[in-house]
Amino acid sequence: MYTRAFWDKIYKRHFSDAPWMSEEWAIGGIRLLDNYIPASTNNGCLLDYGCGNALISDHFMQKGYHIELADISDELVNWLDLRHDDSVPIYLVDSPDMILGENKYDYVIAWCLFHHINPNLWGKFLDSFFHLMKKGSSLFISGWDDSDNILREEKKLGRFTQQPIWFINMLDDLIKWRSDKFELKESKVIPFKLSPFTQERMIRFIIARKIIQ
Ligand SMILES: C[S@@+](CC[C@H](N)C(=O)[O-])C[C@H]1O[C@@H](n2cnc3c(N)ncnc32)[C@H](O)[C@@H]1O
Repeated sequence: MYTRAFWDKIYKRHFSDAPWMSEEWAIGGIRLLDNYIPASTNNGCLLDYGCGNALISDHFMQKGYHIELADISDELVNWLDLRHDDSVPIYLVDSPDMILGENKYDYVIAWCLFHHINPNLWGKFLDSFFHLMKKGSSLFISGWDDSDNILREEKKLGRFTQQPIWFINMLDDLIKWRSDKFELKESKVIPFKLSPFTQERMIRFIIARKIIQ
């Protein structure tokens, strides 16, 4: 269901009105991530996987990072290509193992992505991120928490995508099962106010730190 064709259709029809394409959404992410990602003095490298309009990573480019973007949608990647010069690699991918390289990134962001990925693939995604990350680097994940009342009431159907979503709580276990590779630094619920909704939405925020080479 969450195929390239699905995301292309979303971006063809709803480019700017998708909730995650709003500035409000990006500002929320930036405020949170700014607490963990200091300005780079040595041109640190940041991958934004499932980047959407990449407003979040554009902010970190301004903080001195070399950024790399990846998304599944052709439509979106074409749009991103027009907005960025050649110094920003933009990958059209459906899995992080399609990105070449090892020990490459200081930070990886997978923002609001995993609840659209079949949990059967979560372990594979984590292992691929592990290969791409430098020792000591952090993977930042956000997605819907199972305490989100709107999704519970709407039987786990995304309000905008109208597709089933998966709560990301189980990722904690998948990270802990890889305790030889990752340390689960943080996993907490962040209540977040988004304009289309009267009640706060519940977002889970997870940090996994790569502990070995
Ligand atoms: C809800 S949007 C979040 C966008 C952005 N990270 C943000 O928070 O603003 C999810 C994004 O993930 C992308 N995506 C979904 N499945 C993907 C996959 N398997 N590989 C790469 N990108 C994917 C979609 O095209 C979409 O842009």
